[in-house]
Amino acid sequence: MSIKTAIVNGVQTIEIARPEKKNALTRAMYQEMADALVAANAENSVRAVLIQGQPQIFTSGNDIEDFMGSPPRDENAPVFQFMRAMIGCDKPIVAAVNGAAIGIGTTLLLHCDFVYVADDARLAMPFVSLGLVPEFGSSLLVPKLMGPRRAAEKILLGDPFTGEQAVECGIANAVLPAGEVVAQARRVAERFNKLPPSAVRESKQLMRRATKEQLLETIQAEAEIFGARLRSPEAMEAFQAFFQKRQPDFSKF
Ligand code: COA
Repeated sequence: MSIKTAIVNGVQTIEIARPEKKNALTRAMYQEMADALVAANAENSVRAVLIQGQPQIFTSGNDIEDFMGSPPRDENAPVFQFMRAMIGCDKPIVAAVNGAAIGIGTTLLLHCDFVYVADDARLAMPFVSLGLVPEFGSSLLVPKLMGPRRAAEKILLGDPFTGEQAVECGIANAVLPAGEVVAQARRVAERFNKLPPSAVRESKQLMRRATKEQLLETIQAEAEIFGARLRSPEAMEAFQAFFQKRQPDFSKF
């Protein structure tokens, strides 16, 4: 089971558990996470959602092999179901990030309500260096959150950043010692057991209302370009280089 789900004390926990592949996300894993989010949203006893990885790794993002073999073909692809389920979840989503959070590992945090990161966390959105473009609305949300200059460093250059920098640029709430991140995230999620659920849900909807349509449109536009880029020679070179454990060579393009 690469995704472990459980409802504990009012919190739907979604644990990414594929450490041997650095928690890379396959279609099957996206589907399980999407289903868990949809069920959590509908289940009255669930008051919040907690997303966590493993002690050494949050997630290395899309499973590149799975992606190359079966790229998402239409809006029903599991990755898009997962994105819609995150955006459609009216209950608070809390993330606990230990280790690396790469690609969608970082962009999914933009859709969480609370993000706690470990002092060893390393975030990155290396889409361009993979021959790709940003996804999950990050081309809209990242410049909005931190301004176009810092967004350019993170998206166009793909510069990795620390937990502390994630707090400074508004992606995360707080940095904690690695061993305390999950406990802190759970404490925050469990606070919703004592708050009125409809008021929480309607407040979250209101906080996201103004940008929701624009966000869904952006995800659609990104997906069209991302899908085409997955088949591009630049992306092929980047993916082959990753599996051959060498630097990519873009000088010929
Ligand atoms: N997709 C598929 N496989 C992946 C993966 C991914 N995103 N990330 C890691 N793996 C696999 C590696 O191929 C390797 O498999 P192997 O043991 O069969 O060779 C295994 O997981 C361990 O990864 P490795 O790179 O050796 O670990 P590391 O500790 O040296 O580095 C990362 C960890 C996360 C920094 C590195 O794996 C990485 O950069 N991954 C790719 C991240 C990425 O570009 N994601 C965006 C995708 S859109």
